[in-house]
Amino acid sequence: MSNEKFYITTPIFYANGSPHLGHAYVTILADVIARYHRWKGEDVYFLAGVDEHGIKNLRSAEASGMGIDAYFDSRAAEFRGVYDSLESSYDQFIRTTDKKLHWPAAQALWQKLADSGDIYKGTYEGLYCVGCEAFKQDKDLIDGKCPDHGTVPERLVQENYFFKLSKYTDAIKKKIESNELRIVPEERKNEILSLISEGLEDVSFSRPKKDLPWGIPVPGDDSHVMYVWCDALVNYISALGYAGADDALFKKFWPADLHVLGKDILRFHAAIWPGMLLSAGVPLPKAILVHGLILSGGRKMSKTMGNVIDPKKLIEEYGVEALRFYLAHEVNPFEDGDVTEEKFKEVYNAYLANGIGNLTARVMKMSSTYLDKPVEPSASVGIEVVREFEAAMDAHQIQKGVEAITKYVRELDLEIQETQPFKTIKTDPEKAKEIVTGLVQGVALIGRLLAPIMPQTSAKISEAVKKNTMPTALFARKD
Ligand code: MSP
Repeated sequence: MSNEKFYITTPIFYANGSPHLGHAYVTILADVIARYHRWKGEDVYFLAGVDEHGIKNLRSAEASGMGIDAYFDSRAAEFRGVYDSLESSYDQFIRTTDKKLHWPAAQALWQKLADSGDIYKGTYEGLYCVGCEAFKQDKDLIDGKCPDHGTVPERLVQENYFFKLSKYTDAIKKKIESNELRIVPEERKNEILSLISEGLEDVSFSRPKKDLPWGIPVPGDDSHVMYVWCDALVNYISALGYAGADDALFKKFWPADLHVLGKDILRFHAAIWPGMLLSAGVPLPKAILVHGLILSGGRKMSKTMGNVIDPKKLIEEYGVEALRFYLAHEVNPFEDGDVTEEKFKEVYNAYLANGIGNLTARVMKMSSTYLDKPVEPSASVGIEVVREFEAAMDAHQIQKGVEAITKYVRELDLEIQETQPFKTIKTDPEKAKEIVTGLVQGVALIGRLLAPIMPQTSAKISEAVKKNTMPTALFARKD
Protein backbone atom coordinates (compact mmCIF):
# COMPACT_ATOMS: atom_id res chain seq x y z
CA MET A 1 0.00 0.00 0.00
CA SER A 2 1.22 3.48 -0.74
CA ASN A 3 -0.37 6.70 0.45
CA GLU A 4 0.77 8.70 -2.51
CA LYS A 5 -1.78 11.02 -4.06
CA PHE A 6 -2.52 10.83 -7.75
CA TYR A 7 -4.48 13.58 -9.48
CA ILE A 8 -5.52 12.67 -13.01
CA THR A 9 -7.63 14.66 -15.47
CA THR A 10 -9.31 14.15 -18.82
CA PRO A 11 -9.89 17.00 -21.23
CA ILE A 12 -13.28 18.60 -20.83
CA PHE A 13 -15.28 17.94 -23.97
CA TYR A 14 -17.02 20.58 -26.01
CA ALA A 15 -20.65 20.24 -25.16
CA ASN A 16 -21.82 20.83 -28.73
CA GLY A 17 -22.69 17.31 -29.80
CA SER A 18 -22.94 13.72 -28.73
CA PRO A 19 -19.70 12.07 -27.66
CA HIS A 20 -18.18 9.67 -30.19
CA LEU A 21 -15.67 6.86 -29.99
CA GLY A 22 -12.71 9.30 -29.92
CA HIS A 23 -14.11 10.83 -26.75
CA ALA A 24 -14.84 7.38 -25.37
CA TYR A 25 -11.19 6.51 -25.99
CA VAL A 26 -9.67 9.30 -23.92
CA THR A 27 -12.28 8.71 -21.21
CA ILE A 28 -11.51 5.02 -20.99
CA LEU A 29 -7.76 5.49 -21.24
CA ALA A 30 -7.81 7.95 -18.33
CA ASP A 31 -10.12 5.70 -16.37
CA VAL A 32 -7.91 2.65 -16.82
CA ILE A 33 -4.98 4.67 -15.51
CA ALA A 34 -7.01 6.07 -12.61
CA ARG A 35 -8.21 2.61 -11.62
CA TYR A 36 -4.69 1.20 -11.94
CA HIS A 37 -3.39 3.79 -9.48
CA ARG A 38 -6.22 3.00 -7.05
CA TRP A 39 -5.37 -0.68 -7.50
CA LYS A 40 -1.83 0.16 -6.36
CA GLY A 41 -3.29 1.75 -3.24
CA GLU A 42 -2.78 5.40 -4.16
CA ASP A 43 -5.13 8.19 -3.14
CA VAL A 44 -6.58 9.01 -6.55
CA TYR A 45 -8.61 12.03 -7.58
CA PHE A 46 -10.01 11.82 -11.09
CA LEU A 47 -11.57 14.85 -12.79
CA ALA A 48 -13.86 14.97 -15.81
CA GLY A 49 -16.19 17.60 -17.19
CA VAL A 50 -17.51 19.66 -20.08
CA ASP A 51 -16.29 22.77 -21.88
CA GLU A 52 -19.35 24.91 -22.49
CA HIS A 53 -18.15 28.29 -23.73
CA GLY A 54 -16.78 29.39 -27.11
CA ILE A 55 -18.34 30.07 -30.50
CA LYS A 56 -18.87 26.45 -31.47
CA ASN A 57 -20.93 25.76 -28.36
CA LEU A 58 -22.92 28.96 -28.62
CA ARG A 59 -23.83 28.32 -32.24
CA SER A 60 -25.04 24.81 -31.44
CA ALA A 61 -27.04 26.06 -28.47
CA GLU A 62 -28.69 28.74 -30.59
CA ALA A 63 -29.49 26.28 -33.34
CA SER A 64 -31.09 23.88 -30.88
CA GLY A 65 -33.95 26.29 -30.17
CA MET A 66 -34.01 24.94 -26.61
CA GLY A 67 -32.75 28.05 -24.89
CA ILE A 68 -29.09 28.36 -23.97
CA ASP A 69 -29.19 27.19 -20.36
CA ALA A 70 -31.53 24.28 -21.06
CA TYR A 71 -29.33 23.21 -23.96
CA PHE A 72 -26.17 23.06 -21.86
CA ASP A 73 -27.92 21.41 -18.93
CA SER A 74 -29.16 18.66 -21.19
CA ARG A 75 -25.76 18.25 -22.86
CA ALA A 76 -23.98 18.08 -19.51
CA ALA A 77 -26.44 15.43 -18.38
CA GLU A 78 -25.82 13.52 -21.59
CA PHE A 79 -22.02 13.63 -21.17
CA ARG A 80 -22.30 12.54 -17.55
CA GLY A 81 -24.49 9.69 -18.72
CA VAL A 82 -21.87 8.69 -21.26
CA TYR A 83 -19.12 8.80 -18.64
CA ASP A 84 -21.22 6.59 -16.42
CA SER A 85 -22.05 4.19 -19.23
CA LEU A 86 -18.31 3.86 -19.96
CA GLU A 87 -17.76 2.97 -16.29
CA SER A 88 -15.67 6.06 -15.76
CA SER A 89 -14.77 6.24 -12.08
CA TYR A 90 -14.42 10.05 -12.08
CA ASP A 91 -14.61 11.73 -8.67
CA GLN A 92 -15.90 15.06 -9.93
CA PHE A 93 -17.58 16.47 -13.01
CA ILE A 94 -16.81 20.15 -13.67
CA ARG A 95 -18.80 22.45 -15.93
CA THR A 96 -17.31 25.72 -17.16
CA THR A 97 -20.71 27.39 -16.74
CA ASP A 98 -20.41 26.69 -13.01
CA LYS A 99 -20.52 30.20 -11.61
CA LYS A 100 -19.73 29.15 -8.05
CA LEU A 101 -16.64 27.06 -8.59
CA HIS A 102 -15.29 27.72 -12.06
CA TRP A 103 -15.92 31.38 -12.82
CA PRO A 104 -14.29 32.87 -9.71
CA ALA A 105 -11.22 30.66 -10.21
CA ALA A 106 -10.88 31.64 -13.87
CA GLN A 107 -11.22 35.29 -12.97
CA ALA A 108 -8.77 35.00 -10.07
CA LEU A 109 -6.21 33.37 -12.33
CA TRP A 110 -6.72 36.04 -15.00
CA GLN A 111 -6.16 38.68 -12.32
CA LYS A 112 -2.86 37.02 -11.38
CA LEU A 113 -1.72 37.19 -15.02
CA ALA A 114 -2.76 40.85 -15.13
CA ASP A 115 -0.92 41.53 -11.85
CA SER A 116 2.22 39.99 -13.35
CA GLY A 117 1.93 42.51 -16.20
CA ASP A 118 1.20 39.75 -18.71
CA ILE A 119 -2.17 40.93 -20.05
CA TYR A 120 -2.33 43.78 -22.56
CA LYS A 121 -4.79 45.11 -25.12
CA GLY A 122 -4.10 44.78 -28.82
CA THR A 123 -5.72 44.20 -32.16
CA TYR A 124 -6.04 40.67 -33.44
CA GLU A 125 -6.16 40.32 -37.14
CA GLY A 126 -6.08 36.82 -38.51
CA LEU A 127 -7.74 33.48 -39.01
CA TYR A 128 -9.83 31.48 -36.58
CA CYS A 129 -11.01 27.89 -36.93
CA VAL A 130 -14.24 27.48 -35.00
CA GLY A 131 -13.91 23.66 -35.15
CA CYS A 132 -10.58 23.87 -33.28
CA GLU A 133 -11.55 27.04 -31.37
CA ALA A 134 -8.04 28.16 -32.26
CA PHE A 135 -6.23 30.95 -34.07
CA LYS A 136 -4.52 29.75 -37.23
CA GLN A 137 -1.63 30.82 -39.37
CA ASP A 138 -1.30 30.19 -43.08
CA LYS A 139 1.28 27.48 -42.39
CA ASP A 140 -1.27 25.55 -40.32
CA LEU A 141 -3.61 25.20 -43.31
CA ILE A 142 -3.73 22.88 -46.31
CA ASP A 143 -5.23 24.51 -49.43
CA GLY A 144 -6.48 27.27 -47.18
CA LYS A 145 -8.42 24.81 -45.02
CA CYS A 146 -7.99 23.47 -41.50
CA PRO A 147 -6.63 19.93 -41.97
CA ASP A 148 -8.61 18.58 -39.00
CA HIS A 149 -11.96 20.04 -39.97
CA GLY A 150 -11.77 20.55 -43.72
CA THR A 151 -13.22 24.04 -43.31
CA VAL A 152 -11.95 27.50 -44.30
CA PRO A 153 -11.14 29.47 -41.11
CA GLU A 154 -12.99 32.71 -40.43
CA ARG A 155 -11.15 36.04 -40.69
CA LEU A 156 -11.25 38.05 -37.46
CA VAL A 157 -10.27 41.66 -36.88
CA GLN A 158 -10.98 42.75 -33.34
CA GLU A 159 -9.63 44.40 -30.26
CA ASN A 160 -8.65 41.72 -27.76
CA TYR A 161 -6.71 41.27 -24.60
CA PHE A 162 -3.50 39.34 -25.18
CA PHE A 163 -1.51 37.10 -22.88
CA LYS A 164 2.28 37.52 -23.05
CA LEU A 165 3.04 33.88 -23.68
CA SER A 166 6.22 34.85 -25.57
CA LYS A 167 7.78 35.94 -22.27
CA TYR A 168 7.66 32.36 -21.01
CA THR A 169 9.12 30.63 -24.05
CA ASP A 170 12.46 29.81 -22.41
CA ALA A 171 11.00 28.91 -19.02
CA ILE A 172 8.49 26.49 -20.57
CA LYS A 173 11.17 24.95 -22.75
CA LYS A 174 13.39 24.31 -19.71
CA LYS A 175 10.58 22.72 -17.72
CA ILE A 176 9.84 20.34 -20.56
CA GLU A 177 13.46 19.57 -21.42
CA SER A 178 14.28 18.80 -17.80
CA ASN A 179 11.15 16.61 -17.47
CA GLU A 180 9.89 18.76 -14.62
CA LEU A 181 6.90 18.83 -16.93
CA ARG A 182 7.15 15.39 -18.45
CA ILE A 183 5.59 14.81 -21.85
CA VAL A 184 4.92 11.21 -22.75
CA PRO A 185 5.72 9.80 -25.28
CA GLU A 186 9.15 11.16 -26.13
CA GLU A 187 8.15 11.80 -29.73
CA ARG A 188 5.49 14.30 -28.64
CA LYS A 189 7.95 15.92 -26.26
CA ASN A 190 10.35 16.52 -29.14
CA GLU A 191 7.57 17.78 -31.35
CA ILE A 192 6.43 20.35 -28.83
CA LEU A 193 10.02 21.37 -28.03
CA SER A 194 10.67 22.09 -31.67
CA LEU A 195 7.50 24.15 -31.85
CA ILE A 196 8.54 26.10 -28.75
CA SER A 197 12.02 26.63 -30.19
CA GLU A 198 10.46 28.60 -33.01
CA GLY A 199 9.33 31.01 -30.28
CA LEU A 200 5.88 31.22 -28.74
CA GLU A 201 3.66 34.07 -29.81
CA ASP A 202 1.41 36.02 -27.48
CA VAL A 203 -2.12 34.66 -27.46
CA SER A 204 -5.35 36.53 -27.96
CA PHE A 205 -7.09 35.81 -24.65
CA SER A 206 -10.47 37.51 -24.96
CA ARG A 207 -13.30 38.25 -27.37
CA PRO A 208 -15.46 41.38 -27.47
CA LYS A 209 -18.77 40.54 -25.89
CA LYS A 210 -20.62 42.19 -28.78
CA ASP A 211 -19.18 39.48 -31.08
CA LEU A 212 -19.40 36.60 -28.61
CA PRO A 213 -21.86 37.19 -25.80
CA TRP A 214 -21.06 33.87 -24.16
CA GLY A 215 -18.22 33.26 -21.72
CA ILE A 216 -16.64 34.43 -18.50
CA PRO A 217 -16.37 38.23 -18.21
CA VAL A 218 -12.83 39.57 -18.13
CA PRO A 219 -12.13 41.02 -14.66
CA GLY A 220 -12.42 44.78 -14.79
CA ASP A 221 -13.82 44.87 -18.34
CA ASP A 222 -17.31 43.57 -18.81
CA SER A 223 -17.24 44.27 -22.53
CA HIS A 224 -14.95 41.26 -23.06
CA VAL A 225 -15.28 37.54 -22.37
CA MET A 226 -12.34 35.18 -21.95
CA TYR A 227 -11.06 33.13 -24.88
CA VAL A 228 -12.52 29.65 -24.49
CA TRP A 229 -9.14 27.92 -23.99
CA CYS A 230 -8.03 30.39 -21.33
CA ASP A 231 -11.28 29.60 -19.55
CA ALA A 232 -11.29 25.83 -20.14
CA LEU A 233 -7.73 25.08 -19.01
CA VAL A 234 -8.52 26.56 -15.61
CA ASN A 235 -10.98 23.69 -14.99
CA TYR A 236 -8.07 21.57 -13.75
CA ILE A 237 -7.68 23.87 -10.74
CA SER A 238 -11.12 25.49 -10.43
CA ALA A 239 -12.60 22.05 -9.74
CA LEU A 240 -10.26 21.74 -6.76
CA GLY A 241 -11.39 25.07 -5.33
CA TYR A 242 -8.44 27.19 -6.46
CA ALA A 243 -8.80 30.73 -5.09
CA GLY A 244 -12.10 29.75 -3.47
CA ALA A 245 -13.27 29.65 0.12
CA ASP A 246 -12.62 25.91 0.33
CA ASP A 247 -9.38 25.01 -1.38
CA ALA A 248 -8.64 21.83 0.57
CA LEU A 249 -8.69 19.71 -2.58
CA PHE A 250 -6.39 22.14 -4.36
CA LYS A 251 -3.93 22.01 -1.48
CA LYS A 252 -4.06 18.24 -1.38
CA PHE A 253 -4.04 17.32 -5.06
CA TRP A 254 -2.42 20.10 -7.09
CA PRO A 255 -0.11 19.83 -9.03
CA ALA A 256 -1.78 17.31 -11.29
CA ASP A 257 0.14 14.08 -11.64
CA LEU A 258 -1.22 13.45 -15.11
CA HIS A 259 -3.20 15.34 -17.71
CA VAL A 260 -4.45 12.83 -20.31
CA LEU A 261 -5.23 14.29 -23.73
CA GLY A 262 -5.12 13.82 -27.47
CA LYS A 263 -2.27 15.07 -29.63
CA ASP A 264 -4.59 17.59 -31.30
CA ILE A 265 -4.71 19.64 -28.10
CA LEU A 266 -1.15 19.19 -26.85
CA ARG A 267 -0.10 22.72 -27.83
CA PHE A 268 -2.68 24.27 -25.51
CA HIS A 269 -1.59 22.07 -22.62
CA ALA A 270 2.16 22.17 -23.13
CA ALA A 271 2.53 25.84 -24.03
CA ILE A 272 -0.44 28.05 -23.05
CA TRP A 273 -1.31 26.25 -19.80
CA PRO A 274 2.25 26.18 -18.39
CA GLY A 275 2.65 29.81 -19.46
CA MET A 276 -0.46 30.80 -17.51
CA LEU A 277 0.66 28.88 -14.44
CA LEU A 278 4.16 30.33 -14.55
CA SER A 279 2.74 33.82 -14.83
CA ALA A 280 0.42 33.19 -11.88
CA GLY A 281 3.07 31.52 -9.75
CA VAL A 282 1.13 28.24 -9.57
CA PRO A 283 3.16 24.97 -9.81
CA LEU A 284 3.03 23.19 -13.16
CA PRO A 285 1.45 19.76 -13.65
CA LYS A 286 3.94 16.91 -13.40
CA ALA A 287 3.13 15.06 -16.60
CA ILE A 288 1.07 15.06 -19.77
CA LEU A 289 0.14 11.83 -21.50
CA VAL A 290 -0.53 12.42 -25.16
CA HIS A 291 -2.52 9.77 -27.00
CA GLY A 292 -3.01 9.34 -30.72
CA LEU A 293 -6.30 9.83 -32.48
CA ILE A 294 -9.02 7.38 -33.31
CA LEU A 295 -9.41 7.45 -37.06
CA SER A 296 -12.38 6.45 -39.13
CA GLY A 297 -11.76 5.92 -42.80
CA GLY A 298 -8.21 7.23 -42.31
CA ARG A 299 -9.26 10.64 -40.92
CA LYS A 300 -9.65 11.94 -37.39
CA MET A 301 -13.04 10.87 -36.10
CA SER A 302 -14.85 14.13 -35.44
CA LYS A 303 -18.31 15.58 -35.21
CA THR A 304 -17.31 18.29 -37.65
CA MET A 305 -16.05 15.68 -40.15
CA GLY A 306 -19.20 13.58 -39.74
CA ASN A 307 -17.41 10.21 -39.64
CA VAL A 308 -18.18 9.20 -36.10
CA ILE A 309 -18.91 5.81 -34.54
CA ASP A 310 -21.33 6.04 -31.64
CA PRO A 311 -20.03 4.20 -28.57
CA LYS A 312 -23.62 3.61 -27.44
CA LYS A 313 -24.17 1.29 -30.35
CA LEU A 314 -21.13 -0.84 -29.50
CA ILE A 315 -22.11 -0.92 -25.84
CA GLU A 316 -25.62 -2.11 -26.70
CA GLU A 317 -24.30 -4.89 -28.84
CA TYR A 318 -21.22 -6.05 -26.94
CA GLY A 319 -21.37 -4.46 -23.51
CA VAL A 320 -19.24 -1.73 -22.03
CA GLU A 321 -16.59 -4.12 -20.74
CA ALA A 322 -15.95 -5.33 -24.26
CA LEU A 323 -15.64 -1.74 -25.48
CA ARG A 324 -13.11 -0.96 -22.76
CA PHE A 325 -11.18 -4.11 -23.57
CA TYR A 326 -11.26 -3.38 -27.29
CA LEU A 327 -9.89 0.13 -26.94
CA ALA A 328 -7.27 -0.89 -24.38
CA HIS A 329 -6.15 -3.92 -26.36
CA GLU A 330 -6.38 -2.68 -29.93
CA VAL A 331 -5.26 0.92 -29.76
CA ASN A 332 -1.65 1.78 -29.03
CA PRO A 333 -2.05 4.88 -26.84
CA PHE A 334 0.84 6.56 -28.59
CA GLU A 335 -0.28 6.09 -32.18
CA ASP A 336 -3.35 6.80 -34.27
CA GLY A 337 -5.66 3.83 -34.61
CA ASP A 338 -8.31 3.15 -37.21
CA VAL A 339 -11.39 1.56 -35.68
CA THR A 340 -13.97 -0.53 -37.50
CA GLU A 341 -17.03 -2.35 -36.28
CA GLU A 342 -15.99 -5.56 -38.11
CA LYS A 343 -12.71 -5.75 -36.21
CA PHE A 344 -14.64 -5.35 -32.99
CA LYS A 345 -16.46 -8.66 -33.35
CA GLU A 346 -13.28 -10.50 -34.21
CA VAL A 347 -11.50 -9.23 -31.10
CA TYR A 348 -14.54 -9.90 -28.94
CA ASN A 349 -14.77 -13.52 -29.98
CA ALA A 350 -11.04 -14.24 -29.92
CA TYR A 351 -10.07 -12.63 -26.62
CA LEU A 352 -13.25 -12.41 -24.60
CA ALA A 353 -15.66 -15.19 -25.60
CA ASN A 354 -13.02 -17.79 -26.53
CA GLY A 355 -10.27 -16.33 -24.35
CA ILE A 356 -10.95 -15.00 -20.88
CA GLY A 357 -14.61 -16.11 -20.78
CA ASN A 358 -13.97 -19.66 -21.91
CA LEU A 359 -10.89 -20.18 -19.73
CA THR A 360 -12.65 -18.93 -16.61
CA ALA A 361 -15.70 -21.09 -17.28
CA ARG A 362 -13.63 -24.25 -17.91
CA VAL A 363 -11.43 -23.81 -14.87
CA MET A 364 -14.29 -22.92 -12.53
CA LYS A 365 -16.32 -25.82 -13.84
CA MET A 366 -13.54 -28.24 -12.89
CA SER A 367 -12.90 -26.47 -9.63
CA SER A 368 -16.53 -26.50 -8.51
CA THR A 369 -16.83 -30.16 -9.51
CA TYR A 370 -13.54 -31.56 -8.18
CA LEU A 371 -12.76 -29.34 -5.20
CA ASP A 372 -14.92 -29.15 -2.14
CA LYS A 373 -13.82 -25.72 -1.01
CA PRO A 374 -12.65 -22.46 -2.61
CA VAL A 375 -8.99 -22.10 -3.57
CA GLU A 376 -6.98 -19.45 -1.74
CA PRO A 377 -5.27 -17.05 -4.17
CA SER A 378 -1.50 -17.36 -4.07
CA ALA A 379 0.96 -14.48 -4.30
CA SER A 380 3.58 -16.75 -5.81
CA VAL A 381 1.50 -17.54 -8.90
CA GLY A 382 2.20 -15.50 -12.02
CA ILE A 383 4.88 -13.28 -10.52
CA GLU A 384 6.31 -12.72 -13.99
CA VAL A 385 2.94 -11.60 -15.41
CA VAL A 386 2.40 -9.17 -12.57
CA ARG A 387 5.84 -7.71 -13.15
CA GLU A 388 5.20 -7.37 -16.87
CA PHE A 389 1.77 -5.86 -16.28
CA GLU A 390 2.97 -3.30 -13.77
CA ALA A 391 6.00 -2.26 -15.82
CA ALA A 392 3.75 -1.64 -18.83
CA MET A 393 1.05 0.17 -16.88
CA ASP A 394 3.56 2.35 -15.03
CA ALA A 395 4.80 3.49 -18.44
CA HIS A 396 1.17 4.08 -19.57
CA GLN A 397 1.61 1.31 -22.13
CA ILE A 398 -1.93 0.10 -21.58
CA GLN A 399 -1.91 -2.08 -24.66
CA LYS A 400 1.17 -3.95 -23.42
CA GLY A 401 -0.39 -4.29 -19.98
CA VAL A 402 -3.44 -5.96 -21.50
CA GLU A 403 -1.23 -8.13 -23.67
CA ALA A 404 0.54 -9.43 -20.55
CA ILE A 405 -2.87 -10.65 -19.36
CA THR A 406 -4.00 -12.18 -22.66
CA LYS A 407 -0.65 -13.95 -22.99
CA TYR A 408 -1.18 -15.46 -19.56
CA VAL A 409 -4.68 -16.59 -20.59
CA ARG A 410 -3.09 -18.48 -23.48
CA GLU A 411 -0.50 -20.02 -21.16
CA LEU A 412 -3.23 -21.34 -18.88
CA ASP A 413 -5.19 -22.66 -21.88
CA LEU A 414 -2.07 -24.50 -22.97
CA GLU A 415 -1.54 -25.87 -19.50
CA ILE A 416 -5.04 -27.38 -19.54
CA GLN A 417 -4.36 -28.90 -22.92
CA GLU A 418 -1.07 -30.41 -21.76
CA THR A 419 -2.08 -31.62 -18.33
CA GLN A 420 -5.67 -32.63 -19.15
CA PRO A 421 -6.95 -32.59 -15.56
CA PHE A 422 -10.43 -33.69 -16.79
CA LYS A 423 -8.81 -37.02 -17.72
CA THR A 424 -6.37 -37.23 -14.82
CA ILE A 425 -9.27 -36.90 -12.38
CA LYS A 426 -10.21 -40.50 -13.25
CA THR A 427 -6.75 -41.97 -12.79
CA ASP A 428 -5.06 -39.75 -10.23
CA PRO A 429 -7.61 -37.46 -8.53
CA GLU A 430 -5.06 -35.91 -6.13
CA LYS A 431 -2.86 -34.88 -9.04
CA ALA A 432 -5.86 -33.46 -10.94
CA LYS A 433 -6.93 -31.44 -7.90
CA GLU A 434 -3.46 -30.03 -7.58
CA ILE A 435 -3.46 -28.97 -11.24
CA VAL A 436 -6.90 -27.40 -10.96
CA THR A 437 -5.87 -25.56 -7.78
CA GLY A 438 -2.99 -24.01 -9.71
CA LEU A 439 -5.30 -23.09 -12.58
CA VAL A 440 -7.80 -21.42 -10.25
CA GLN A 441 -4.98 -19.40 -8.73
CA GLY A 442 -4.07 -18.32 -12.26
CA VAL A 443 -7.66 -17.34 -13.01
CA ALA A 444 -7.82 -15.44 -9.71
CA LEU A 445 -4.78 -13.48 -10.80
CA ILE A 446 -6.39 -12.69 -14.16
CA GLY A 447 -9.42 -11.41 -12.27
CA ARG A 448 -7.21 -9.19 -10.15
CA LEU A 449 -5.21 -7.79 -13.07
CA LEU A 450 -8.34 -7.03 -15.07
CA ALA A 451 -9.67 -4.67 -12.39
CA PRO A 452 -8.52 -1.45 -14.10
CA ILE A 453 -9.60 -2.58 -17.56
CA MET A 454 -12.85 -4.50 -17.07
CA PRO A 455 -14.00 -3.80 -13.51
CA GLN A 456 -17.22 -5.84 -13.69
CA THR A 457 -15.55 -8.86 -15.26
CA SER A 458 -12.81 -8.64 -12.68
CA ALA A 459 -15.38 -8.63 -9.88
CA LYS A 460 -17.29 -11.56 -11.40
CA ILE A 461 -14.15 -13.66 -11.73
CA SER A 462 -13.00 -12.86 -8.20
CA GLU A 463 -16.46 -13.70 -6.88
CA ALA A 464 -16.52 -17.05 -8.70
CA VAL A 465 -13.11 -17.97 -7.29
CA LYS A 466 -14.11 -16.91 -3.79
CA LYS A 467 -17.27 -18.99 -3.85
CA ASN A 468 -15.93 -21.80 -5.98
CA THR A 469 -18.78 -21.44 -8.46
CA MET A 470 -19.16 -20.81 -12.17
CA PRO A 471 -18.83 -17.14 -13.13
CA THR A 472 -22.11 -15.46 -14.13
CA ALA A 473 -22.63 -14.32 -17.74
CA LEU A 474 -19.19 -13.39 -18.96
CA PHE A 475 -18.96 -13.20 -22.76
CA ALA A 476 -21.27 -15.12 -25.06
CA ARG A 477 -19.84 -15.78 -28.51
CA LYS A 478 -21.20 -13.59 -31.33
CA ASP A 479 -21.72 -15.10 -34.74
N1 MSP B 1 -12.73 21.38 -25.06
C1 MSP B 1 -11.45 21.03 -25.53
C2 MSP B 1 -10.57 20.50 -24.43
C3 MSP B 1 -10.35 21.43 -23.30
S1 MSP B 1 -9.36 20.74 -22.07
C4 MSP B 1 -9.00 21.99 -21.07
C5 MSP B 1 -11.57 19.97 -26.62
N2 MSP B 1 -12.69 19.28 -26.62
S2 MSP B 1 -13.03 18.13 -27.67
O1 MSP B 1 -14.34 17.68 -27.31
O2 MSP B 1 -12.86 18.61 -29.00
O3 MSP B 1 -11.98 17.02 -27.47
C6 MSP B 1 -11.77 16.47 -26.22
C7 MSP B 1 -10.78 15.34 -26.25
O4 MSP B 1 -11.25 14.34 -27.11
C8 MSP B 1 -9.37 15.72 -26.73
O5 MSP B 1 -8.39 15.09 -25.93
C9 MSP B 1 -9.30 15.14 -28.07
O6 MSP B 1 -7.99 14.73 -28.37
C10 MSP B 1 -10.20 13.93 -27.90
N3 MSP B 1 -10.67 13.51 -29.19
C11 MSP B 1 -11.56 14.12 -30.02
N4 MSP B 1 -11.59 13.42 -31.17
C12 MSP B 1 -10.74 12.38 -31.10
C13 MSP B 1 -10.44 11.27 -31.89
N5 MSP B 1 -10.97 11.12 -33.07
N6 MSP B 1 -9.60 10.34 -31.37
C14 MSP B 1 -9.12 10.38 -30.10
N7 MSP B 1 -9.39 11.41 -29.33
C15 MSP B 1 -10.05 12.50 -29.85
O7 MSP B 1 -10.64 19.81 -27.37
